[in-house]
Amino acid sequence: MKSYKELPNDAGSNIIGQVTAQADRLQKRLASVKHTVAIMSGKGGVGKSAIAANLAVALTLRGNTVGVVDADINGPTLAKMMGVRNATLEYTPAGVKPAVAGLGTKLISMDLLLAEDDTPVLWNAHTQKDAFTWRSTMEVGALREFIADTVWGELDYLLLDLPPGSDRLPNVAELIPNLGGVVVVTIPSEVSQLVVKKSVTMARDVLKVPIIGVVENMAFYVCQHCGEEEPLFSADETLDDAFQQVLLGSIPFDPRLARCSDTGIPYIDEYPDTPASKALIQVTEKIQNFFDEKTQRSL
Ligand SMILES: Nc1ncnc2c1ncn2[C@@H]1O[C@H](COP(=O)(O)OP(=O)(O)OP(=O)(O)O)[C@@H](O)[C@H]1O
Ligand SMILES: [Mg+2]
Repeated sequence: MKSYKELPNDAGSNIIGQVTAQADRLQKRLASVKHTVAIMSGKGGVGKSAIAANLAVALTLRGNTVGVVDADINGPTLAKMMGVRNATLEYTPAGVKPAVAGLGTKLISMDLLLAEDDTPVLWNAHTQKDAFTWRSTMEVGALREFIADTVWGELDYLLLDLPPGSDRLPNVAELIPNLGGVVVVTIPSEVSQLVVKKSVTMARDVLKVPIIGVVENMAFYVCQHCGEEEPLFSADETLDDAFQQVLLGSIPFDPRLARCSDTGIPYIDEYPDTPASKALIQVTEKIQNFFDEKTQRSL
C-alpha cells in the first residue's frame, strides 16, 4: 500500500500540507508541556486508565497543571472515570478547549465526541470489514489531532492513557519524539507479566523511551474491617525480579476505587488515607522525582 506521501496527486485536498501543518501545531503545543508520560501495559484490563486518572488527580493535588489524553480511541473510558462525560467541548479559533474535571485536570477523549453511550467509533472505510487496514493510520491521525488541536495551555504534565497492545507505543513515540517516559502497569499474574515484558522491550530497546517504572496493580486486598492484607493471586505469582527493580509501587485492590472510577469521583481525594491512595501518592512522588532528577542532570 502506498503512503500518502507517495500519492501522485491528492485530488486538490492538499493532504500533505494539512498533515504537515498539524504536525507543526503539535510541536508548538508540546513546547508548552514540561513532561509527557505514557501509561501503558500491553495487557488489557490491568488498570491503566484507573491509574492514569488517579495519577492525574494526585499530580494536580500536588500543585501541577495536568492534561490527560485518552489515547484509547475505540474504548475510551477516561471521561467517565474523571467525571466529565457530560462536558460540552468548546471550539475556538485556537483549537478545542479540553474538558476540565472538578479539581482542574484537563482531558480530551474520543468519548467527548461521540453522540450516544452506545455509539461505536467507525473508521471511514469502504466497508467496516476493510476498516482494520485503516485503523492504525486513523488512530494515529486522531491522536495527532487530540494533541495538536487542543488548547492545553502551559502544562507541567501531559499523561497519555494507552490502549492495550504492545504495538501502541510506537505510534505515540512517533508523534512525541521526546516522550518523557513510560509508566508500565501490570497485575501479579504470570500471564500479565509475560505480555507486559514485551511492551517493556519495545519501549526500552526498540524505541529507546525511558521507563520511569512499573506499577503493580491489584497486588493484594486489604480487609476493610480488620486491615489484614490478603493476596489476590496465588503466592507463586509474584512480581518478576526485573520489574521489582524498577517498582514504583504496589496498589491493592479496593472496591471503592472501582466505584469511584465508575462514578467519576477522584478516589485519592475522596479516600486519601486508604492503602491504595497512599500507594498511588508514592507512585506520583517517584514520577516527580524522576523528572526532577532529569532536570537537575540537564542543568
Ligand atoms: N486497584 C484497583 N482496585 C479496584 N478496582 C480497580 C483497581 N484498578 C483498576 N480497577 C478497576 O478495574 C477495571 C479495569 O480497569 P481499567 O479500565 O483501568 O483497565 P485498563 O487496563 O485501562 O483496561 P483496557 O486495557 O481495556 O484499557 C475498572 O473497572 C477499574 O475501575
Ligand atoms: Mg483503559
